[in-house]
Amino acid sequence: MRYSLKQVQSFKSIHVPQERTILVYDRRLLRASPAFRRWAKSFPFQFPVKAGEGLKSLSSFSTFTEKVHRVVGGSANREWTVLAVGGGSVGDFAGFFASVYKRGLKLIHIPSTWLSAIDSSHGGKTALNLLGAKNQIGTFYPSQQTILVRELLLAQPAARIEDGVGELVKAAILSGGTWGRRLKRPAAKQGEWLWRNLPQAIKVKMKIVASDPFETKGVRQVLNLGHTFGHVLEAVQGLSHGAAVRQGLLFAIDVSERAGRLNEYDGMAFRNWLATLGIEQTANPVRERDARKALLHDKKRGDGQQLIFILIEKMGRVRRQSIAVERLIAIGIETGWIC
Ligand SMILES: NC(=O)c1ccc[n+]([C@@H]2O[C@H](COP(=O)([O-])OP(=O)(O)OC[C@H]3O[C@@H](n4cnc5c(N)ncnc54)[C@H](O)[C@@H]3O)[C@@H](O)[C@H]2O)c1
Ligand SMILES: [Zn+2]
Repeated sequence: MRYSLKQVQSFKSIHVPQERTILVYDRRLLRASPAFRRWAKSFPFQFPVKAGEGLKSLSSFSTFTEKVHRVVGGSANREWTVLAVGGGSVGDFAGFFASVYKRGLKLIHIPSTWLSAIDSSHGGKTALNLLGAKNQIGTFYPSQQTILVRELLLAQPAARIEDGVGELVKAAILSGGTWGRRLKRPAAKQGEWLWRNLPQAIKVKMKIVASDPFETKGVRQVLNLGHTFGHVLEAVQGLSHGAAVRQGLLFAIDVSERAGRLNEYDGMAFRNWLATLGIEQTANPVRERDARKALLHDKKRGDGQQLIFILIEKMGRVRRQSIAVERLIAIGIETGWIC
């Protein structure tokens, strides 16, 4: 896969040909990152967008595409680059645009949230939503390059660190190597801690993606670890993705134990380790009816009332298993996640 990852301290170190670049960025960054604001000034073709799920709608896509076309349509060709600066919503949206406009432009991601830096700016998935359902339209279109900019990521509010931790810990569990097993959260400078650990977490994702780039073999489904119940919490309780995934990892431990894949001793060791990383069961129980509705909406479900669930066997070993939604609900009730 043509893809490279770069980590730089500041925008000053990024050199892209500005004349043939369509800069798409989260307009909030003008305030959130003065360094970005200064750097962006010199791009002749820039298109600020409002981040969020609304951006990923068909109507905002057509408005945006027409706007870009009016400005650069006469000159843009496949040698041009879309430079997407923002969180996952901007990356999904601009990535989709890059993949279809003029039958495909070059694409560079500069993620601005921890979630996008760890996860969404790698692996090539682009997406729009349809009739309120997430990610129903999309392409596989890996960026040529993803550039992680320290001064941009560290300028995020401290509260956002929690969003990155979920995906980081997921990667650690999937990795199982020395890096994953030794992952410890410091008491201070947690942004620095995330920054230092980004390359390892991304490596874990990219290794899995490389073996199943178009999600045809099922292998890539393991990246869904912690996400099945995470999506329920996002949908029903409005938890942020990162916060929801953290809880989802704990739910996955409970299910793995009850499915006989993880013994009680190892399950407890996992929970203790997660507690040292600041991950404990804090979500309010979801009402059974809401949980069922959200689980049945999960697009990763298998046949009928079954879901493909990612079970944890040990560090570095997970297993895809088809589980009945009703079984998940019963486990959720037993373990206090569902009431
Ligand atoms: N393509 C994939 O593989 C993949 C994987 C996971 C998630 N996603 C998608 O990613 C999206 C969620 O990602 P996200 O949370 O990064 O979304 P986002 O782009 O909606 O950003 C969340 C919020 O953070 C703000 N923000 C962004 N950068 C900031 C900064 N540096 N400082 C302060 N505020 C900043 C945004 O304005 C927005 O309000 C969802 O749409 C999800 O579907 C895609
Ligand atoms: Zn995720």
